[in-house]
Amino acid sequence: MTISTAGAGAPARPVEGAHARLTSGTVLSTSPVDSPAAARGALTMEALHLSRDFRLTRGTTLSAVHDVSFGLYSSAVVALVGESGSGKSTVAKMLAGQELATSGTIELAGRPIEVLRRRQFRRYKNQVQYVFQDPFASLNPVHTVRYHLARPVRLHRPVGSRRQLEEELVRVMQQVRLTPAEPFLDKYPHELSGGQRQRVAVARALAARPSVLLADEPVSMLDVSIRLEMLNVLDELRRNFQLAMLYITHDIASARYFADEVLVLYAGEVVERGPAEELTQQPAHPYTQLLVSSAPDPDDLGSILRRGGRAAIHQAGEGAAGVSGCRFHPRCSLADDRCRRDVPPLMRIGRDRAAACWRVDVAAPAALRAISGPTAPADPAGAPGQGPQEQQPDQSSRGGLR
Ligand SMILES: Nc1ncnc2c1ncn2[C@@H]1O[C@H](COP(=O)(O)OP(=O)(O)OP(=O)(O)O)[C@@H](O)[C@H]1O
Ligand code: SF4
Ligand SMILES: [Mg+2]
Repeated sequence: MTISTAGAGAPARPVEGAHARLTSGTVLSTSPVDSPAAARGALTMEALHLSRDFRLTRGTTLSAVHDVSFGLYSSAVVALVGESGSGKSTVAKMLAGQELATSGTIELAGRPIEVLRRRQFRRYKNQVQYVFQDPFASLNPVHTVRYHLARPVRLHRPVGSRRQLEEELVRVMQQVRLTPAEPFLDKYPHELSGGQRQRVAVARALAARPSVLLADEPVSMLDVSIRLEMLNVLDELRRNFQLAMLYITHDIASARYFADEVLVLYAGEVVERGPAEELTQQPAHPYTQLLVSSAPDPDDLGSILRRGGRAAIHQAGEGAAGVSGCRFHPRCSLADDRCRRDVPPLMRIGRDRAAACWRVDVAAPAALRAISGPTAPADPAGAPGQGPQEQQPDQSSRGGLR
């Protein structure tokens, strides 16, 4: 997130062509990385250079999302991780067609969303379903579960008779493990637990037979004891229906557990992306290192979900508005003059990993050493494997909060 007083939201970043030079001299490619989610299935949806500015008061623009690109693949989960206000929901709303992008393109099955006419756009909105954080807010309190599910079931499934409709309703409820289904159908939202309400919300989304599910913090408002169970339900649905899923969360530990690829958002920009396991085991960007360190035992997801694990993350980006250069610099112990001046582009630190940090070789020398092949032309001033990035990291100056 950036606030500017000029017309455009975010400041221009230096154009470096296909390469960028780290402060140490090492040259890295800025070309797009492969997505680890592509191993699961076909590309279903693509976000290309999405940005969203909000006009605030006279002459002030908030750049809530800036130049975000990623693909969603069938049967795969991509997680968007970041603190409150980092732009996660704005990205999801643009994908869902609820919010217009200021610039950039969204494609579903290769077709840009902008070219869709009214009826095609309605079909698009059925294909791309959005599950909200708060199941109470997304269900109408004056209607029963049956009412919420019957309309999408009738619209999207062949139900001729009342009996067939009933059978379909039961089937949809079973898919989200609300069983036995019959007693739930005539209940009102306030008669359900938080977890049951969220399952009804997911069942309603599934009833439209979507190819993409955007799950915006689907477990954060649930009782701690049932968060893992809900993630398991979503994981089963991903597999059974080959859903391409965007999982939005504050909690990097649950992203590791649940996602194939993780994109870390800071102040509206992707600062790191990569395979979920690798990125959380060996975070490269100082902000990702902060997120991981605030979830002390990444192997114990249960305890992290129980503790909540988000207080430190919540505070991490306050004050990013109006910051020049790298948005994270006021909180980064590695920040130097260049960090305060120039916006770092996303640079490849592996075939399927990238980080936006001028000093990534100092912040995460091991992650950079793990590059399997050359990502840039040989550079005598500092090719990977030579020069300053090989020095042992100074533990006292590792990236993180000051
Ligand atoms: N309609 C709007 N008008 C103005 N500003 C907005 C609007 N919607 C979102 N914003 C701002 O854009 C930024 C990103 O908001 P967004 O809701 O995408 O964040 P988020 O990462 O989903 O946060 P949270 O984790 O709290 O849900 C915030 O600063 C928010 O205040
Ligand atoms: S080292 Fe510099 S570029 Fe990297 S995160 Fe810190 S402030 Fe940003
Ligand atoms: Mg949100």
